[in-house]
Order: sequence, then structure tokens, then C-alpha cells
Amino acid sequence: MNDFNYAERVKKINPAISQDLIAKVRALRADGVEVIDFSDQGASPDVARQAAIQKINMSSGSSYSDTRGLSELRYEIARKMLIEQKIEVNPETEVLVTVGAKEAILSALLTLADHGDEVLVEDPGYLGFEPIIRLAGAKPIRVPLIKESGFRFPVEGLRHYITARTKVLLLCNPHNPGGYCLTKNELTEIGKIAKENGLTILVDEAYEHFVFDGRKHISLASLPGMESITITIQTMSKIFNMGGWRIGWAIGPTHLIKKMHLLHTHAITAPTTFSQSGAAAALSAGIAEGNQPIANIVERYEAQRDAMIEGLASIPGLSCHVPHGTFFVFPNISRFKAPPNGISDFLLKIGHVATVPGSAFGPNGSEHIRMVFKCDKATIQKGIARMADAFGKLEYQ
Ligand SMILES: Cc1ncc(COP(=O)(O)O)c(C=O)c1O
Repeated sequence: MNDFNYAERVKKINPAISQDLIAKVRALRADGVEVIDFSDQGASPDVARQAAIQKINMSSGSSYSDTRGLSELRYEIARKMLIEQKIEVNPETEVLVTVGAKEAILSALLTLADHGDEVLVEDPGYLGFEPIIRLAGAKPIRVPLIKESGFRFPVEGLRHYITARTKVLLLCNPHNPGGYCLTKNELTEIGKIAKENGLTILVDEAYEHFVFDGRKHISLASLPGMESITITIQTMSKIFNMGGWRIGWAIGPTHLIKKMHLLHTHAITAPTTFSQSGAAAALSAGIAEGNQPIANIVERYEAQRDAMIEGLASIPGLSCHVPHGTFFVFPNISRFKAPPNGISDFLLKIGHVATVPGSAFGPNGSEHIRMVFKCDKATIQKGIARMADAFGKLEYQ
């Protein structure tokens, strides 16, 4: 229906490139082709599943929860922040449980940015960010990350992107897709610039646990004076492998959480009650993907990252920086002469290996492809061998 008079906000949004890729992978699999996407089929932790079943069997399990989120979950979130980040969070007023991190980002942007306001966003960056900014009516302003330094945020150049209309800086730390973890000094400097310019910082910490080589994740809100300008966003989707449960949360100053809560209540009421019970149980037990404690999972992912990096380094023409965190690698494919539909399409067709074109994350990612390393080492090696064969068919300089 080309002549239908859709609202402007949906006209500005395009389907994610990753959806197209998922459809292609599904079609190949339906034809019996074994596609390697380096992902895993990991289940959510048993402790979460048992708690959710128990809750749904109680009458309170099928009622709406408190619109801020179940109190036991909000208290678990506050406890977690105290243990992990030494931040004292008031679970009554400073936490809002949301339908995944995505709802937290949307509610925050709807609260902070008016039509035409500018939101600074990393390029490359998580592909969900720009559409959410546009949905909120704001304008995404891309801040190119420094490729040569493993996609580091250009702290020293940040002022250059700030105008009278800039309201929010949206950061992803650890960074999807580049894997960079911001240091304390960088966070302090970013916070200082944001404060000077009256900006609020939204920090998406979806990958907070996935940090390697002895690093420690630092929440911006844990640094002196930063709590008042920071909204921290976290989720059960990643280390807990509970993406389909749709539970995330925002932590921030009382006045902002109050406003976010207001519009969240009108839009969605509250996230699914029994999902919240499952999330509270998993947080309380500290048991995540594969029924493992978080530290064990991180150790396994670090080894998988190393296997992936080693494999990629063995492919002539390809180069890849070592990500500090997340479960992504972002190899540079610019030396290859790309076939007409691009390298990712070629790798899928020829090698039956699924990757995402870096351009999906912003123009500054276009010389890269994004891959995950969630699977075991044997699958990584098998996928790398297929990639090496496929790349071997392309010319490179
Ligand atoms: C940076 C980032 N934020 C948010 C999300 C989505 O999180 P949720 O499932 O909690 O909405 C993702 C998922 O890929 C992500 O990479």
C-alpha cells in the first residue's frame, strides 16, 4: 500500500539488515544446508525456569506486577549493583524493570529528547539504537569511533559533535560491535564533558559481564558525580541467555525514573510477571547461561574469543583487532575485492557461514563484518576453515 498515509515516524525506519540475514539463514537451513553462525542454542538457567513455573502456578503469577517491576526483582538489581559496582541504588525509586533493554532505551529517550533534539550515537554502534532514536522523534548524530584503536570512543573529539540541540549521549559499554571497554579515565572525561554541556548519558551495559584479560567492567554511574546524569541500562538477555523472557531495566536518578515509569505504565503496564520471577531467581543465585556461575562463563568465552582471533589471523588478507569484551569480533575485510552483494552474502552462499555486514552498524563499520563467538571451539574451527576456503576464492591486495 504505497499510497497509505503512514505516520512520518515509521517512514523513517528501515528493517534491520540482520533480519534479512536471519531470513536467508533460515531458508538455507530449511533446504537442509548446515549453516554455521557461531552462535549456540543455550537454554536459560534452570533456576529461572523453575521460579517462573512456580510463579505461573500461583494466582499472583498471572496478575500484573507492580508497574515498576516486581519488588523482589528490583531489590535483586539493587543488590547486584552494590556488589558489582559499589553503587547504592534505591529499589523503590531508582529502578524501572522494562521489556528488555530496548524498552528501557525507548522510555529513556522518550523522556529526554523532544522532536528534533540530537542524540549522539556511536558509529559503528548497536543497530537497534538509531531506529529507537528516530521512533522517539529525535535525530541520531553519529560519532565515528577510532578504528585504528579497536573502535575506541573519541573522547578528545566529543565536544565537536555537541550543539545547542544535543540532549543525550548514548553509549554502549562494552561496545557492540567493536568490543571496546571504556576505561575509568575515559568515562571520567566523557562524564565531565557531558556535565559541562548539560547532557544526560544513557549507558547500555548489555554486555557488562563479558570483559576479558582481567579487565573489570566499570559502570559510569559508579564514578563520582555521575549518578545524577546517568541512566544505566542492563538486561537478562546476554549472560543469562534469557532474551525471549524480555526482561531488562533502567537505573537512574529518581526524577528521571519517575517520568520513565509514567510513560512505561501507559505504554506497557509492566513486563510479564513470571518472567520477572525467573529473572529475580537467576540474579539471586548468580547462575547464568548453561547453569554456570558467571565467572566460569566468562572464562569459557575468553577462550572462545582467543580461538576465533587465532583462526581469523590464519586467513590471508583478513585482519582483526582483539576485542576487550562482548561476544563479537569485527574483522576488517577491506583488502578483499568484494563481490556485488558484499562479503557477508558471499560467505553465506559459498561457505555457509553467517556474518553480519559491518555497514549494518553504521558507515564507519563498512570495511568490517561482525561475527559472534558463542559456540564451542570445534565449531569455531570448522567455521573458520569454511571461511578460509571462501576467502581463498577472492582476490585481495
Ligand atoms: C547493545 C545491545 N543493547 C540491547 C540489546 C537488546 O537487549 P534486550 O533483549 O534486553 O532488549 C542488544 C541485543 O543484541 C544489544 O546488543
